[in-house]
Amino acid sequence: MGKVTKLKLAVLISGGGSNLQAIIDACNAPDYPAEIVLVFSNQLDAGGLERGRKADIRAEAISHKGYPGGREAYDNAVSTLIEESGADLVVLAGYLRLVSESFVTRWKDKLINIHPSLLPSFKGLGVHQAALDAGVKFAGCTVHYVVPEVDSGPIIAQAVVPVLPGDDAGKLAQRILKQEHRIYPQVIRWIAEGRVSVDAKGIVTVADAPKADFAEINPALEPG
Ligand code: GRF
Repeated sequence: MGKVTKLKLAVLISGGGSNLQAIIDACNAPDYPAEIVLVFSNQLDAGGLERGRKADIRAEAISHKGYPGGREAYDNAVSTLIEESGADLVVLAGYLRLVSESFVTRWKDKLINIHPSLLPSFKGLGVHQAALDAGVKFAGCTVHYVVPEVDSGPIIAQAVVPVLPGDDAGKLAQRILKQEHRIYPQVIRWIAEGRVSVDAKGIVTVADAPKADFAEINPALEPG
């Protein structure tokens, strides 16, 4: 059998990297159509770097603090690393840093993010507490293409969880995180399989995905 070409991923992180780990685990399945070629962090001590190295993936960090030339220059250095890695898709997974407009333009249609709310509600930081403060009965997570405006690009997939009595921000975050770990690898699979398209209005369609795929990412749905 010929070697199947896999989609090459650069995963950008700032912290513990549990989403990164979910993607690493997915990539370990022989039939998964993507592989990670670079883990990058703006935090030198990000726990996720070690997860990458343990999985024999190139893991690099450049601190943004005091980087000469500011955000644009920093993002250019990151882009150069990504280009050198040969990545086809840039996956923001807890990358707690605003990216510059030129970075978004450079990676247009090849840059995705995961956010722990049901966008367009609760953009930015502190979103679990914000959801609790608003009294919503359902929360969740969103995978979307990145555009210059923060947490605003075309929505590819969402998963929903209930808000339960007695929740605090930590409990809600854990419940949502579990779904993040399902939804992100599934979306990357769809992109790798060439099924994801965006129309002129920014509405995403996933072609030929079995209904079970959607149930897989969203516990609010029944398969079949
Ligand atoms: C996740 O909740 C993600 O949605 C948000 O930052 C968190 C990162 O967690 N953008 P981890 O580093 O993947 O564990």
